[in-house]
Amino acid sequence: MRRLSPRPLTRPASVGLLRKAGTTPYARAMSRFLPLASLLALVAASSSAQSTAAAKGLNVTALTPTILRIPLATPGPSAENSSWAVSAAVRAQRAPVTPTADGFTTDALQVAIDQKTGALTLRDRSSRTILAGLSLQRTAGQTVFTLRAPMPAGERYVGLGDKTGGLDRRGSSFVNWNTDAYGFGTATDPIYKSIPFFIAVGKDGAAYGVFLDDPQRSWFDFGHREENVLTIGADAGPADLYLIAGPTVADVVRRYTDLTGKAPLPPRWALGYQQSRYSYMSEAELRTVAGRLRSEHIPTDVLWLDIDFQDRNRPFTVNRTTFPDMKRLTADLGKDGFKLITITDLHIAHAPNQSYSPYDSGVAGDHFLKNPDGSTYVAPVWPGPSVFPDFTRASTRRWWGDLYRPFLDDGVAGFWNDMNEPAIFDTPTKTMPLDTRHRIDSDDFAARTATHAEIHNVYGMENSRATYEGLLRLRPNSRPFVMTRASYAGGQRYAVTWTGDNSASWDHLRLMVQQLLNLGLSGFSWAGADIGGFTGGPSPELLTRFTQIGAFTPIFRNHSAKDTPRVEPWLDGPQQLAIRRRFIEERYRLLPYFYAVAEQNSRTGDPVMRPLFYDFSKALTAPCDQSMSFTVGRDLLVAASPKPESPQAYDICLPGGGWYDYWTGKRVPADKISETPALERLPVFVRPGAILPRQPLTQSTAEVPSGPLELHVYPGPDCAGTLYWDDGTSLDYRRRAFLRQAIRCSADASGLRLTFAPRDGSYRPWWRELAVTVHGWTGASRVEGAGRPIAATADGPGEALRFILPDQSRGGEVVIRRQ
Ligand code: GLC
Repeated sequence: MRRLSPRPLTRPASVGLLRKAGTTPYARAMSRFLPLASLLALVAASSSAQSTAAAKGLNVTALTPTILRIPLATPGPSAENSSWAVSAAVRAQRAPVTPTADGFTTDALQVAIDQKTGALTLRDRSSRTILAGLSLQRTAGQTVFTLRAPMPAGERYVGLGDKTGGLDRRGSSFVNWNTDAYGFGTATDPIYKSIPFFIAVGKDGAAYGVFLDDPQRSWFDFGHREENVLTIGADAGPADLYLIAGPTVADVVRRYTDLTGKAPLPPRWALGYQQSRYSYMSEAELRTVAGRLRSEHIPTDVLWLDIDFQDRNRPFTVNRTTFPDMKRLTADLGKDGFKLITITDLHIAHAPNQSYSPYDSGVAGDHFLKNPDGSTYVAPVWPGPSVFPDFTRASTRRWWGDLYRPFLDDGVAGFWNDMNEPAIFDTPTKTMPLDTRHRIDSDDFAARTATHAEIHNVYGMENSRATYEGLLRLRPNSRPFVMTRASYAGGQRYAVTWTGDNSASWDHLRLMVQQLLNLGLSGFSWAGADIGGFTGGPSPELLTRFTQIGAFTPIFRNHSAKDTPRVEPWLDGPQQLAIRRRFIEERYRLLPYFYAVAEQNSRTGDPVMRPLFYDFSKALTAPCDQSMSFTVGRDLLVAASPKPESPQAYDICLPGGGWYDYWTGKRVPADKISETPALERLPVFVRPGAILPRQPLTQSTAEVPSGPLELHVYPGPDCAGTLYWDDGTSLDYRRRAFLRQAIRCSADASGLRLTFAPRDGSYRPWWRELAVTVHGWTGASRVEGAGRPIAATADGPGEALRFILPDQSRGGEVVIRRQ
């Protein structure tokens, strides 16, 4: 059980005392985490259970002016200040607070506790209410605490990771319990991940976040049981409740990822198209698929090997009959621009005396989970009877990480950690008994035994952490690529994810968009869904739509189950292939934009794929069904049909108007348009004011594009774009071996000025020239750069002006004058 360290709890508990002593260094330090004890004593008046909690001293700590931590002390054996999600360094942060009569203020917030009810109200410094009346109750039965808060009319609730349902959680309730959810439906809960974090978004776009850092089974009810009342509870604690102020959704997401960590910049090849199947059964089959992808000119970066490449499904083995020479295979694929990813599930075959080294070395190091009686826990998964590493031990994570050495030596580029909820076969709970024993020895946790009930929801995350950290140790200057199925808050630090075993149905196409948006808002920007659907088999139209929309999702992987029809892009004939190929190609053309957004995500936490209201609060009140609309970064808006199976026309709302059609480059005349679906079309728009980089088509990210980098300028307000580039695979970018350049434009009646800021970083890119297209441009113009005229071509019908510039590595300015 996690417990707060007793130290902060023993400080003077009264606000008055703190105030009096406010001038001493001790009191100044103490005033940074002002206790709620006096305030909670008020809560305590109503029940003895609460008074126990109050006696243990609950506190509100301001980690930063906008992030508050409220430990929810509940009965448990040990005293501990620790977390799997929030690092010790972050938990140790303190922002100054100033006591007030009913609470305290930070530079950004007023925290007040109602003297009668004990409910907490959060306001900003101009007294605008952010969250009113959050109260804590200790309840009998299984749930050890309940938080209640009113749900103002029109407020929506987003986040909670991969949970099913729509983007808005209002009216629904959810349980956080990582579950292998093969064939899940659009309302199945719980599924693979537990990310107990949501963002409340008011009608005007004002937002705050709530993160319950409690890996034990918890539940969130958004007015399902009790109308307009939000309740949160957990089976056990203690837990930390974090309140994260905005005011914008972006502020909340950035701060949540300040707390739980940013996703590292993935290798650039991870942004390419990825082809998988359960399973490509032999080297010969994989080579055939690779050959066909190239001969059909379907740009592709990654091929995946699922469990059948192994010997009897045993992780960290290779079936040498079907895959005789992995090193040669990866080398040959590499020459053709492919990376290979292999699955390495966490369950280790229970195979004593069989020279299966992961088992033997795991036993030697005492790395496997135990039954309560101390014997090793054994249960069936893919390899048959299996044992399970105790990823809560740093030494076990290290041992696990080292298992990757031969695979890295063979040239395998990335790894897939599946089944890590953990999934167990032949048991109704689908997982291991809750009293299975972990022996935590990690981070700032006390070394102690813990039940699986406490660890279950972080088990998959710690599995992916072991992989990530191992890969980094073995290849210290390479960006690790790990994909995990189960995870917890903060898991984005170690792995990308996907939505598990979805189905080939139109409902699941819709669900993909909702899940990926909510994952992005929950820190997991790097997420994808099995394109085409894992179970079942898509109709040609469904696979085409999945591919079109998937081309704009962060992880773009086609994957399907055994005993289902094959779904490689060419399978439904040349017409469908032509459409699918065109969208995959567009993804590759947009790579410089995707990569700049990726880099932004790694620094700020801003998702790659965003709901429209992330950047455009006007979208919150748009008179359109936007459930299948999203943006990539801030500048590209994808507006698929909310009923993608239907031929019916639908409305598209473009926040604020003035947007450009991505495909034609022309301005869209209205902020609301009607779209009649056609299979070959996916409406995509560009923000007025965007400067979008694109590159010549390649067949993989390994191929150096030939020709200039394209810069598409879409005049409008806040006209800006960013170039970001680096070597794509190493960590040299952390030592300034990157290229970052801001570009701005400003337009007036006389023309347009394009300004290149001086470049930051030392990386030299592949391009020597910039091919600029200014969209929405008509009439004759004169273009000048560095005092010299530049030849430009007016594209009358395309409403565009085009010209070529030398690369602006030192910065520069181009002026376009109307004539
Ligand atoms: C699980 C995964 C799926 C994979 C299969 C075999 O069902 O979710 O993606 O193909 O296991 O490894």
